[in-house]
Amino acid sequence: MKKHCNKMVAVGGLMVACLLVEISCGAVEAVRVQERRLSSGRILGSTDPNTTFAFYKFSLQWPPASCDSSLKCVGDIPAEFTIHGLWPQLSNDKGVPAYAKNKSCTTLTPTRADQLPVILQTGNLVQQLMQAWPDLKNTSSLKTSQTFWSNEWTKHGMCSDYGDKPLDYFKAAINLRNNFVQAFKLERGVSYKVEEIVKKVKAAVNGTPEITCRTKKGGMGAKILLELRLCYKKGNPTPQGIQDCKVSYSGVCKSTLDELTLL
Ligand SMILES: *[C@@H]1O[C@H](CO)[C@@H](O)[C@H](O)[C@H]1NC(C)=O
Ligand SMILES: *[C@@H]1O[C@H](CO)[C@@H](O)[C@H](O)[C@H]1NC(C)=O
Ligand SMILES: *[C@@H]1O[C@H](CO)[C@@H](O)[C@H](O)[C@H]1NC(C)=O
Repeated sequence: MKKHCNKMVAVGGLMVACLLVEISCGAVEAVRVQERRLSSGRILGSTDPNTTFAFYKFSLQWPPASCDSSLKCVGDIPAEFTIHGLWPQLSNDKGVPAYAKNKSCTTLTPTRADQLPVILQTGNLVQQLMQAWPDLKNTSSLKTSQTFWSNEWTKHGMCSDYGDKPLDYFKAAINLRNNFVQAFKLERGVSYKVEEIVKKVKAAVNGTPEITCRTKKGGMGAKILLELRLCYKKGNPTPQGIQDCKVSYSGVCKSTLDELTLL
């Protein structure tokens, strides 16, 4: 299509004609880019239409801040956002009760958590998960992270659109995280207002995020960024399914003017 457009531009003599052709070629290209994004971002497998949640909240943690607590982190602490979880939320922004507590969250029979290690292994996802979704308690221990994934699956995954398709659930989370990490960077040690971070993230992903703040250990009340949460439509936890989160800050931040740093 690009070639064809170029040829038409070369043939067309008038400036105005060239301009029109260029504009329409640009539009075609934009559509194509969009299509490519859609196909690469599409989640495999079908979804369960009978789930009770309203939207997804995708939570990314900033590891240096997660470890700035009573949590004793062992192994390398990644200096990039890693996944905390992909959570089906009710319309009041509360998490759906876990399947164990309320089996009417879905009509299908979810995959049991004890089946996950084999499924993730045979699905070739372990390597990617260790990088994108490590348990910071011991980033070099597969076992520790497997427990983290199982807990997240039991608490949130079973009542998602992918209750019997754990590979699709974990792939969706990895895809969202990789897309985000590439799209957007904050500088460490720099102080930002909540609203500045919200604006930057929104410019990158097209949806209002929820910034979660924590108090820095021994920092005399200084605030740090703990988590960055993005919200997605039910049935479409892909970059194209982004929607605004209900609140733009949580944790110890109390205003969009609060200042915080990225540790
Ligand atoms: C959704 O629920 C209806 C009614 O219970 C059931 O007939 C249908 O099979 C369910 N759909 C799926 C995909 O589970
Ligand atoms: C289970 O979830 C359904 C649908 O969200 C809700 O109507 C029902 O009250 C819940 N039951 C319990 C025991 O929480
Ligand atoms: C962390 O994991 C590694 C690899 O499994 C293990 O050798 C080490 O003992 C673990 N450290 C702690 C403190 O649990």
